[in-house]
Amino acid sequence: MRSMFPLLGLLALVGPATVAQGQVSDEAVPDSVTPERVLAGSNTFNSGTCVFCHAIAGRGSGRWAPDLSDAEWLHSEGDFNGIFRTIYWGVEEDEFRAMTPRRFEMHPQGGMSVDWEQTKELAAYVWTIGHPGTHPLVAAQSRFLELVRAGEVDRALDLFHRMQRDDPEHLLLPERSLNRLGYEFMPERAEIAQRIFQLNVELFPDSWNVYDSLAESYMVQGDREKAIELYEKSLELNPQNENGLEKLRELGAR
Ligand code: HEC
Repeated sequence: MRSMFPLLGLLALVGPATVAQGQVSDEAVPDSVTPERVLAGSNTFNSGTCVFCHAIAGRGSGRWAPDLSDAEWLHSEGDFNGIFRTIYWGVEEDEFRAMTPRRFEMHPQGGMSVDWEQTKELAAYVWTIGHPGTHPLVAAQSRFLELVRAGEVDRALDLFHRMQRDDPEHLLLPERSLNRLGYEFMPERAEIAQRIFQLNVELFPDSWNVYDSLAESYMVQGDREKAIELYEKSLELNPQNENGLEKLRELGAR
């Protein structure tokens, strides 16, 4: 099911001022859903296991696991406590309700070791995914993904940098999610992937994997030299990067 809040994404977030001002809708927010928990939960969710099944910012197709941004809740009423319980205890396979073609497990805490408080942070974030207008970061994530997927990369990157300027301590999305986002466009629209990977390189210049991904986007576009340069950089940071080594051989550079 598609998000019930497309208007929030499109109308409420028309300008940077709105994003910076904080809460953009006047929905009531449960006491347990504090802004700090949402920020921490976003980071755990988007750099943890959750994105593998529920997709970036929980806005998945529902193919591998339920879309967490729609108003349809399978295992609770969509309230904070219900969401908390689902995350903390997981969902047994015989309780699955969604029509998923492959049966992925919803292990307790998504298979990560998160404590009680971190689970509250995750629950606060998941609650907010369904009410994006109540938190500027979550609203901006939704808008950012919309823009990138519509091919409006300049506007998406503007939004990313604006958010970063306003709140340098909390990135809109962490490295793992940006990397996954880039791969959504590989190999068919590698020029879009390239710009997302480039952003990751700027944000995480010490990560070998971001260079490896950027290299791949150049390789599929036929820019051999740039691909070689970036694979070499990746290998310099991580000599164990087998994939990079293999690609360099493929490119005739080793
Ligand atoms: C390996 C895949 C996988 C991972 C990893 C995973 N989930 Fe799930 N999740 C599922 C599946 C499958 C369901 C239940 C599907 C069904 O009922 O048919 C589910 C259900 C849920 C639900 C209940 C949704 C509803 O509609 O009631 C929440 C909330 C949730 N997951 C949050 C998380 C969070 C937070 C994380 C990370 C800590 C996470 N999940 C990690 C696969 C996964």
